[in-house]
Amino acid sequence: MRQPVVLAPMAGVTDKPFRRIVRSFGNQTLTTEMIGVESLRRNHPATRKMMDIRDETNIIVQLVGINRDAMVYAAQAAEAVGAVGVDINMGCPVKKLITNGSGAALLNSPDTAAHLIEAVANAVTVPVSAKMRIGWDDAHINAVSFAKTLVRAGVQKITVHGRTKEQGYSGCVRWDIIRAVRESVSVPVFVNGDVVDRASAEKALSVTGADGVMVGRGALGRPWILSEIEKGVSLTVPKAALICRHLDLLLEYYGAHGIFVARKHLAWYARGKKGVAEFCQSVYSEENVDRVKEMVCAFFKGEE
Ligand SMILES: Cc1cc2nc3c(=O)[nH]c(=O)nc-3n(C[C@H](O)[C@H](O)[C@H](O)COP(=O)(O)O)c2cc1C
Repeated sequence: MRQPVVLAPMAGVTDKPFRRIVRSFGNQTLTTEMIGVESLRRNHPATRKMMDIRDETNIIVQLVGINRDAMVYAAQAAEAVGAVGVDINMGCPVKKLITNGSGAALLNSPDTAAHLIEAVANAVTVPVSAKMRIGWDDAHINAVSFAKTLVRAGVQKITVHGRTKEQGYSGCVRWDIIRAVRESVSVPVFVNGDVVDRASAEKALSVTGADGVMVGRGALGRPWILSEIEKGVSLTVPKAALICRHLDLLLEYYGAHGIFVARKHLAWYARGKKGVAEFCQSVYSEENVDRVKEMVCAFFKGEE
């Protein structure tokens, strides 16, 4: 595939352990979880930890927030630790963010969004991008004018999740709107939403004319999917070994709590397999890592 394939930011998912697993398959650009800029400026330890990408390469740091000084502070911190780009979240529908005017709420405040972009673009040398949705709801689809405003403010790339804030994560992805954005702005536009394999990536790119594709949920339990999409081949993956390695990385990063963080990943890895309910029930009630690994080896036996 000629166009880049990048990993979407996903809170609670695209942490360092997950990125290391994805990275083991290829050198695509990966994105952190969204990092709250106000929380970072208050020196919140967990938020600080999210920003530590010093031992990684080709990482975009995604920031979320509304305070301009805090946004600049966080962007400079991201640049200092080696981020290849800073992305600003303008699409998250979580209530807590919407209430303080950040995330998808920015779709309704293009001037505020532009001021944030402008401030950050003037403060860092790495490219500044934005990740947005097509609008607030069906009656307020403003992707084209919003994207144009961001470009005037200095954004160098835009990723469009082809849904409204009201749609959340379901319903139809509006590729026609992404195409309209692509045709209206001079910066690269990446298409996002429901790309899960090579075929859906090719279709999304050809229908929208986008310059790249971003994959989110398609990578849950399938961290090799970015490479498969990029290379157009089916990879042979030794699942049990991979999952045990992921488990080790989670424990190294989160300490003993890692076993609980691992549960959702185990469920995603097992998705679609016969006996998945029993497998999840067993691993969810086990806190001993070696026992969990034994269960993983038994469940994924012979699977490559
Ligand atoms: C668990 C989860 C967490 C997410 N967290 C973020 C986030 O931190 N920042 C963001 O911009 N989008 C976030 N998203 C949205 C994804 O980046 C992406 O836009 C959306 O899932 C649609 O793409 P997909 O169909 O490939 O998953 C999240 C989505 C999921 C499922």
